[in-house]
Amino acid sequence: MALKDKIEEIKKDLVESQVWKAIFRHGYEDTPRNRVLMVTANVWMHLHPAKVRRHGVRMRFTWCMGGLTFLMFLMTVITGIYLMFYYRPVAEYAYADMKYLEFDMPFGMLMRNMHRWAAHAMVVFVWLHMFRVFLTGSYKPPREFNWIVGVLLLVLTLLLSFTGYLLPWDQLSIWAVTVGSNMARASPLLGHEGPFHEFVGANPIYDARAFLFGGGEIGPHTLLRFYILHCIFIPLVASLLMAVHFWRIRRDGFSGPSL
Ligand code: HEM
Repeated sequence: MALKDKIEEIKKDLVESQVWKAIFRHGYEDTPRNRVLMVTANVWMHLHPAKVRRHGVRMRFTWCMGGLTFLMFLMTVITGIYLMFYYRPVAEYAYADMKYLEFDMPFGMLMRNMHRWAAHAMVVFVWLHMFRVFLTGSYKPPREFNWIVGVLLLVLTLLLSFTGYLLPWDQLSIWAVTVGSNMARASPLLGHEGPFHEFVGANPIYDARAFLFGGGEIGPHTLLRFYILHCIFIPLVASLLMAVHFWRIRRDGFSGPSL
């Protein structure tokens, strides 16, 4: 069989596979209908779906957990921006800034505590939300792709919590993050003490732990790294995935009974 035919066959198998159909809802041929669908059924072009099925907006059995997780996320973003005005991610200042914003800034203690409690609540709610989705079997087709998006959101929520832990730069946070990041050195493939690390050539200065630390051990560079991950990178990626998650709930229809 010619190479061109082989490629065509692989392409056909891929497009007809369940994984492809779970992610993309329509074909990609250049037809007038598909051109319209490209615009109306694309999350980045139509964040609010142009067409929604009636049962897609009838929500029940949610325990409100997804919505509460989102509310907690918004609370951490708003209070976090306030904290950013007074906090410098530099080893000399971080601890003093945290004390200053807690005890001297107007509403500082309130904002810091709201940020902390909302963050804890977000972690609890996201687990309960996943538990609810599991109990109602809502991970089954056609929602399997949204479950995967959800798993990524769960990981990002936990990473937000983990990276925020270092920022007070006190003994508790430094040692907690040392222990947490040390676990990364035993992760499969990516950690230099983990199974199969020789396949990717992971070593003490080039593995998952070194990536988290920004070097061989915890230090000022780790603080800056965690700050950027905590305040910019992870919230940005999480926001984009949440947009896809919410859009997809509308597109797939809510799993509750249609009335
Ligand atoms: C930051 C994290 C998350 C936020 C903000 C979020 C938000 C939401 C919201 C608002 C809903 C609709 C109503 C509801 O069920 O409460 C929902 C539905 C859904 N979520 Fe999440 N979610 C998150 C994480 C997850 C996780 C970890 C999973 C699973 C691994 C997941 C899987 C799903 C699925 C499959 C649905 C559709 C449920 C159905 O149709 O019954 N989500 N999510």
